Amino acid sequence: MTAVTNDEQVAEGFLRVVGLSKAYGDVRAVSNVSFSLEPGTFFALLGPSGCGKTTLLKMLAGFESPSAGEIHLGPGEITDMPAFRRPLNTVFQHYALFPHMDVAKNVGYALRQQRPRIAKSEIESRVNAALQLVQLDHLPRRRPSELSGGQQQRVALARALVAHPSVLLLDEPLSALDAKLRVDMQAELKSLQSRLGISFIFVTHDQGEALSMADRIAVMREGEIVQDTTPMDLYDRPADSWVAGFIGTMNFVAGTVAGVSDDLTQVETEAGTFSGIATADLNSGQDVRLALRPERLRLFAPDSDDSKAAECTATGVVEAFSFHGDQVDCTVRTQTIGAVKVRIPLAGTAHEIDFQSGGAVVVGWNSRDARVVPTWNSAAKS
Ligand SMILES: Nc1ncnc2c1ncn2[C@@H]1O[C@H](COP(=O)(O)OP(=O)(O)OP(=O)(O)O)[C@@H](O)[C@H]1O
Ligand SMILES: [Mg+2]
Repeated sequence: MTAVTNDEQVAEGFLRVVGLSKAYGDVRAVSNVSFSLEPGTFFALLGPSGCGKTTLLKMLAGFESPSAGEIHLGPGEITDMPAFRRPLNTVFQHYALFPHMDVAKNVGYALRQQRPRIAKSEIESRVNAALQLVQLDHLPRRRPSELSGGQQQRVALARALVAHPSVLLLDEPLSALDAKLRVDMQAELKSLQSRLGISFIFVTHDQGEALSMADRIAVMREGEIVQDTTPMDLYDRPADSWVAGFIGTMNFVAGTVAGVSDDLTQVETEAGTFSGIATADLNSGQDVRLALRPERLRLFAPDSDDSKAAECTATGVVEAFSFHGDQVDCTVRTQTIGAVKVRIPLAGTAHEIDFQSGGAVVVGWNSRDARVVPTWNSAAKS
């Protein structure tokens, strides 16, 4: 990342947040958060309930004042700028449309409040352009109560976009929609963002949504950003055991670092020594977890020759399985590393594996498919 020293040289829409914190009494809602966003980035803020996502967004929008830190947008600092002057607009989880106003009036509301006044004809054309962006220009006279959930969501989006923000803030904008509509709106939002070329900061606690939509994901925990990277990197190289368990499904084997050779780290566990790729700097003897994704594991029949090709194996019995058409999810109770979740694709291959509960199987994997992550311990943190 390029160091920014002089705001004058910075592109409009470049957002830079430095050491932002917010305390409510003893509660540190947001702690020392820093990040920079190139214009046109789809940035997801992902984290469990209460980790500070909304508080961070409110400080960016100007609805909360930070306890410490700075916000810079384009060539200037906006930390103390009133919300209505900031070139940032917000779409909330509950869109709060005015029920007595029709769609066009809702979308044009903020423009009508502006002083000096904006000409009526300009308001009309900007409202129409915003409604076209969200494909609602055929329904300007409908009231919110006469719209579906997805259409109401589009009105809220148009209302935020009509002011031509350089960054759009979205706080769990899809959480009120049913699953099917949610998937459609995800695609629509993504395409809207790339057409507009502005940054979206998208708050969600749905990791699937973040992985599929974002250019970059910042994972928040207890007010801090613990990892800020691309979706693929986050999934493949989680910074610690908490992130590894939060993103997708992960199997863990507890151990300590025994040594490093080439790009592999050896982990001593109760079940013996395993190797994997470390996702962070580790010290000898440090508490770590060997982390194994279910889809990186393979299942073999007990005496199959194929199982001998796997670098690591654990023998066990199938404890539970579920069929999903294109894949089978199994839980295998192993003799050495506990219960292990395994995901087997059923892509046209005939399987001789006994998936039935109680069937004997061998779980196998290669060291390069395993990750070694530092153990995160909440008690040790403070
Ligand atoms: N006005 C307030 N006064 C006191 N504490 C607050 C206030 N607003 C938020 N908090 C606390 O700050 C922390 C972060 O809250 P925040 O709303 O930012 O979480 P969130 O990540 O958006 O959670 P969710 O996913 O549930 O929306 C929580 O512990 C919350 O209780
Ligand atoms: Mg929230």
